[in-house]
Amino acid sequence: MDLNQQIFAVAKSSSCRIVTPEPCGLIIFGASGDLARRKLIPAIYRLFRQKLLPAGFFVLGIARTEMSTAQYRQLMLDGLNDGFMGECDHACWRDFSSMLNYRSIDYDDPKSYRQNISEYLPLLEEGSGSEGNRIFYLATPPTVCQDIIANLQAAGLSKEKGNYVKIVIEKPFGRDTESSQKLDASLLRGFEERQIYRIDHYLAKETVQNILMFRFANSIFEPLWNRRYIDHIQITAMETLGIEQRAGYYEQSGVLRDMFQNHMLQLLSLTAMEPPALFTPERVREEKAKVFQSVRPFPLDRLDELLVTGQYGKGTLNGEAVRGYREEPGVAADSRTPTYAALKLFVDNWRWNGVPFYLRSGKRMRRRTTEISIHFKPVPHMMFTEAMGGGIDANILVLKVQPDEGITLEFQAKNPGSRVCLMPVQLNFAYLRNIALEAYERVLLDCMEGDQMLFVREDAVSLTWELLTPLIERVESGEDHPLSLYAAGSDGPAEAVQLLERGGRLWRAL
Ligand code: BG6
Repeated sequence: MDLNQQIFAVAKSSSCRIVTPEPCGLIIFGASGDLARRKLIPAIYRLFRQKLLPAGFFVLGIARTEMSTAQYRQLMLDGLNDGFMGECDHACWRDFSSMLNYRSIDYDDPKSYRQNISEYLPLLEEGSGSEGNRIFYLATPPTVCQDIIANLQAAGLSKEKGNYVKIVIEKPFGRDTESSQKLDASLLRGFEERQIYRIDHYLAKETVQNILMFRFANSIFEPLWNRRYIDHIQITAMETLGIEQRAGYYEQSGVLRDMFQNHMLQLLSLTAMEPPALFTPERVREEKAKVFQSVRPFPLDRLDELLVTGQYGKGTLNGEAVRGYREEPGVAADSRTPTYAALKLFVDNWRWNGVPFYLRSGKRMRRRTTEISIHFKPVPHMMFTEAMGGGIDANILVLKVQPDEGITLEFQAKNPGSRVCLMPVQLNFAYLRNIALEAYERVLLDCMEGDQMLFVREDAVSLTWELLTPLIERVESGEDHPLSLYAAGSDGPAEAVQLLERGGRLWRAL
């Protein structure tokens, strides 16, 4: 589209609630792993630097690898330096790192929990003033989660005795309906639902949180937010990254489990949900669950009409040759794991009846873009047709999740000079540098504060698995469902274009 005029609005600073959480200790399982090194410790460090951590605080890193606390601190500093590209403030790190401690354990050995956690925690708590509040953070592969949960419970570590105890668990929450139910059952044996924080880091992105603010704090959009005015909605999450070092996990997962069961369906629920009467975690999560309940079950005998899956072959990305998925270390030479999917679905309720939602996500795509685009219906009567010699583009509202965070409204305006000639223009709002907290900083703080708004409730996990498990099983069985190949660095398989073309629509160009 030839967008030759842009109007910019930039976020002004605004006043925000800043609460310092109660003292606590954070016990990270899987503390030597990638997630802790790349995301968690850097997020805690940044919170410390912004003076947002509670006064009494410590981290106890737990993993299988044998190492001393000094070695652990060095490992985390290396991680920080890689990520920050050398910007770490060393004086600040010195103060921060004195709060980092490390113990190695055997995840499946109850004795190990007694010696290294039950007996060690009180010492750290006394020294730090954390007042016995504990957050257990499972940054481990899903295979060991059940052992950890069972052993925490057996050691009596899930019980609250005048303090609080919380458990944070990362996706994937199981790999299908059955395994997610098992995981939940084991969590609920030791912990109550209010103690459980299931992280979907997409929900902590400022731009994702903004979806609800934008919809429900403005009176001009919500009246249009329905089947009367909206033709269809596209939810896109494209990545340029491949699978990095995660072949073991990804081969078992694929894009439908990795991105759709969680991030994509969460974006859908925020876009489609009804306004809750109160902006409280329970009310919001209630409305989100209703969206999942309203998604029309997928007709498995007609999958081709609504699902395209693909896998990247070799190609070129940013001028560099990149290998195909099957050439990635650890991936089977004949792997059929999808790294791309485009899915059409319907939300069968009063508001959305007949409005298709198109979801697409892929790895090794040409550009990294996550966005939600609301495609409005064309004007009901085209009085300019004669002068324009054709149709005009309908309005599109784009909620840009990342990068270039912001909102864009595309509309028609008169082309100056000509008598009747229209041109598409954009009204832009850009966050620029105003993103205050990164996703992991936000979820860590919210967990400390006990705010479960951004965490996924048990029913959302089971509802989303119930929706997707039959579809995934069908895809994995290979029955009547082809896997399309696409070149790394491209826009994905051609079949995904046809998925929209059949309905007379086009994907928004990224
Ligand atoms: C994770 C997936 O949950 O989200 C990854 O496991 C994916 O495969 C990542 O790369 C995308 O997150 P973000 O924040 O980079 O869009």
